[in-house]
Amino acid sequence: MKIPIIIDTDPGIDDAIAILMAFAAKNIDIKAITTVVGNVELEKTTVNALKLVEFSGLDIKVARGSEKHIRREHFSAEWYHGVSGLGNLKFPDPKMKVYEKNAYDTIYEEACKCKGKLKLVCLAPLTNIASTILIYPDIVNKIDSIVLMGGAINGGNDTPAAEFNMYADPEAARIVFNSKIPVTMVGLDVTNRALLYKNEIEEIDKANNKMAKLVAKIATRIYENCAKFNVEGAAMHDPFAMGYVIDSSIMKYKSFHVDVEASSELTRGKTIVDVNNLLNKPTNVNVGVDLDRDAFVSMLKELFI
Ligand code: BDR
Ligand code: CA
Repeated sequence: MKIPIIIDTDPGIDDAIAILMAFAAKNIDIKAITTVVGNVELEKTTVNALKLVEFSGLDIKVARGSEKHIRREHFSAEWYHGVSGLGNLKFPDPKMKVYEKNAYDTIYEEACKCKGKLKLVCLAPLTNIASTILIYPDIVNKIDSIVLMGGAINGGNDTPAAEFNMYADPEAARIVFNSKIPVTMVGLDVTNRALLYKNEIEEIDKANNKMAKLVAKIATRIYENCAKFNVEGAAMHDPFAMGYVIDSSIMKYKSFHVDVEASSELTRGKTIVDVNNLLNKPTNVNVGVDLDRDAFVSMLKELFI
């Protein structure tokens, strides 16, 4: 049976590769894509999602979500993702229209239809998911699990303490982590090591199909971004999280108690992972701790070449 998922996303160059992976994966059934403010403004992330769906020729609904975070002002990551959010890629203006229902109603509706089997694959600040939980508290018993890209046991990429998706909306992250929904956190501890090397990008580019060419173009932009931080390889943050959904054998996790800092400015959005069980609280999150990079890269090649 295919895995029914909703992709909650803010495309976003690495989101785009993750979405293309889900399009190509034979074991994934995308029920909807829900968009949120994040890397760029909501209008842009929504148009970008529509462009990607139209590019694929698939019939997948795109539902618009939050244009504001729960409490924090939006700041964009244009320096990384480009002004449009999709680097300097050019797509025709999408003809497809956004789904008539908003993201929260769509998530709830699909959760009910899937009878407990729906997985939420969250590649962005958790604003939509937290809002859905606030509007429909019973959703916590209606979905299978959440796999999210975000957080880290150690360090950050937006501030020294915090990863971007957690920093952008820490209040939303707290609601999600404390919701009792089973959560798997695919954080920087693994995604910073999910690097795609130059020769691997070139190999994908050589494939004679439009999907592979697009993936290679986007990966090249990510590669250039990473080079600015002296990292030799394109960090596949969102794609690795999607890869885990497609084949869970590529990542090892451990279960810990996790919460998110939302009071301090200095450590805003830091995921507090109780690796030594000092708080003696029940575990609530499966935290990615190790990965099989080669298996992930093989997956990318199988999907696109
Ligand atoms: C995350 O932040 C965003 O900029 C990326 O799309 C990814 O979801 C990585 O920290
Ligand atoms: Ca993202």
